[in-house]
Amino acid sequence: MPGSDGVCGPAPGRLAPSDCTAVSESCENGRRKQKGMRMQLENKNAVVYGAAGSMGGAVARAFAREGARVFLAGRTLAKLDAVAGEIRSGGGTAETAQVDAMDQLAVASHADQVAAAAGSIDISFNAISISAVQNMPLVGMSLEDFMAPVTDACRTHFVTATTAARHMTAQGSGVIVLLSATASRESRHQMGGFSLACACIEALTRSLAGEVGRQGVRVVGLRPNFTPETYPGVSDEDVSSLVKDTLLGRLPRLAEVAGTAVYLASAAAGAMTGAVINLSCGAIID
Ligand SMILES: NC(=O)c1ccc[n+]([C@@H]2O[C@H](COP(=O)([O-])OP(=O)(O)OC[C@H]3O[C@@H](n4cnc5c(N)ncnc54)[C@H](OP(=O)(O)O)[C@@H]3O)[C@@H](O)[C@H]2O)c1
Repeated sequence: MPGSDGVCGPAPGRLAPSDCTAVSESCENGRRKQKGMRMQLENKNAVVYGAAGSMGGAVARAFAREGARVFLAGRTLAKLDAVAGEIRSGGGTAETAQVDAMDQLAVASHADQVAAAAGSIDISFNAISISAVQNMPLVGMSLEDFMAPVTDACRTHFVTATTAARHMTAQGSGVIVLLSATASRESRHQMGGFSLACACIEALTRSLAGEVGRQGVRVVGLRPNFTPETYPGVSDEDVSSLVKDTLLGRLPRLAEVAGTAVYLASAAAGAMTGAVINLSCGAIID
């Protein structure tokens, strides 16, 4: 993708030509003629919580590839810096910060810093991990184990989504993308409190959307099935019971999850709010 000066090669906030989805042609002597297609998230500032993780990292890279300036927030700075390094070496713009996404004051302070530095927060995405006891019957589970993922998921999504909503309603625009999982609608697998945690995230998507829509802010959700690439070493046999439930005979790919997050955050999804996109590969039918 050419820079605004038309010179070939990465420009700040953009990836190398081979990574761009936009069409450009006639690269001669280091100059490239632009065909005029825009990246989907050009001039957007995106905060990604849990950006060093599998989902968060993939989404952060995809946001950057589509022209967003990404602010990577998470628990372990060294891992965030590694993701930021990859994004920058591809020509994107990324900054990192250690932020506990469960801590309301820390998240608010980080968001204030991002807004002051970048001028706005246009996209917020929370991909932090939620620990849950699974693969045991509810009747054998302790109340504490059942409640832990519900409390954690509600806490972090409430904290990050309402923090973003405060900035976005003040500026009159923005998109908040929440992440649940097919567990929200499942009955076949023993997911413990994780199912309720995911259902809570989806309920929050709807209630917050109802409060901020008239102020120009969209709140949308992603509901992926288990995504094997996020667990290196997982075998086909390990996931066979999940694959069996799907209509497509497979589970989602990380690129499909990240690409859908880009779509939800983009103007192309401008008519969508209070909705959760189903990436179950047909395991859950809406
Ligand atoms: N993986 C899947 O197949 C799948 C499918 C559907 C939905 N999801 C959802 O996607 C989310 C992320 O999954 P994942 O597979 O990407 O997990 P992951 O690879 O373990 O990444 C989670 C990231 O969150 C960070 N984190 C954890 N607690 C945090 C906190 N309090 N504050 C800030 N950062 C924190 C972790 O930090 P460290 O780097 O320090 O560990 C890690 O980088 C989960 O909520 C899960 O329900 C996942």
